Amino acid sequence: MSYYYNPVKTYIGENALDNLSEIIDSMELKTNSVVLLNRGNDFLKTEEYRTIKVNLKKHTVATLVFTQSNPALSDVIDLLQKLRGIDYSLVIGIGGGSIMDISKALKALKNANVSDKDMLRDILIERKYLDYPSNNCKLIAVPTTTGTGSEVTPFASIWDKEERKKYSMYGDSVYADAAIIDGALVKKLPDAIAISTALDALCHAVEAYWARSSNIISKMYALKAIKLITENVIEITGNPDNEKIKKNLLMGSFFAGLAFSNTKTTSCHSISYPLTMLFNIPHGIAAFLTLGKMYEINKDSIIDIKGLYEAFGTEDIPAKIDSIFKAADISSKLSDYGVKPGDIDELIDKSFTKGRMDNNPVTIDKEVLRKVFEEIL
Ligand SMILES: [Fe+2]
Repeated sequence: MSYYYNPVKTYIGENALDNLSEIIDSMELKTNSVVLLNRGNDFLKTEEYRTIKVNLKKHTVATLVFTQSNPALSDVIDLLQKLRGIDYSLVIGIGGGSIMDISKALKALKNANVSDKDMLRDILIERKYLDYPSNNCKLIAVPTTTGTGSEVTPFASIWDKEERKKYSMYGDSVYADAAIIDGALVKKLPDAIAISTALDALCHAVEAYWARSSNIISKMYALKAIKLITENVIEITGNPDNEKIKKNLLMGSFFAGLAFSNTKTTSCHSISYPLTMLFNIPHGIAAFLTLGKMYEINKDSIIDIKGLYEAFGTEDIPAKIDSIFKAADISSKLSDYGVKPGDIDELIDKSFTKGRMDNNPVTIDKEVLRKVFEEIL
């Protein structure tokens, strides 16, 4: 039996953000207080920010800025403390993956009493946030990059820099209530960010397709995503249709999000976490670095592999992946990111995230993984 469920109301279209106040009205919020989380800096000077402010004029708005990547425990605690005493009914997160992660945390942890890192670790590890009443806080997720798909997934990542690990929040209360997919928001996205986030989305789609937990609906969305991303990501640099390509990548990321919202990711993502934690490799690139090798390992176990051939436009998927590395001018070698042979043991130790590595269609053990790392070193 196949099972698929996604509760996020999705509003799609160029300038869909203009309809924000109607979308909020339809939510029948319990209070007038709204939290607006954004990446700050240049965003506060944009037309989109002005649009949001106009749409929120009936509300009391607490504007929070988060400029880092990969939110840490201390970031979540700081922001929750800033909101102490405010009975907010809605979080609007507009930005990339890190903004989505924090927005989900502010929604799911609204009723948590968190004052230090140990308390937050306990809440995240034991998933205590699932017991909090979530119906008194809604979330609208507005992506401004061409990756993550987080606007339609029930996952958020919070990083523990002291313990050098990552906690995954997941469950129904981590879903956004609404997502606004507005192509106008990615038009000015720098090419390098568009590419690295699109590679993340490509991994989401491929991993959703081959995941042990895959299903017929996720597979359909995954193929749509793979086709859109592989056709567009290699065209991005210097193309006069650059803005259209980025809009296509945004849709690819959205479809990939719908796909992996119900499957989770697999080996490539599991391996990416220590690569990002220990070597600061951007998330999308960290996941993409092992996609070709994991495909070689998995290919005989992939159900309906012909679908992948069609979506990639070739039966030689590793060659296609290589061509994407070249077109994107991204190194496929770990040594170019500062990884040395002596780092492989720690990478192996930290690569086995429960629910990800064991969701790979082929069981990966430490020796297989060592070989993968050595081959891409
Ligand atoms: Fe990802």
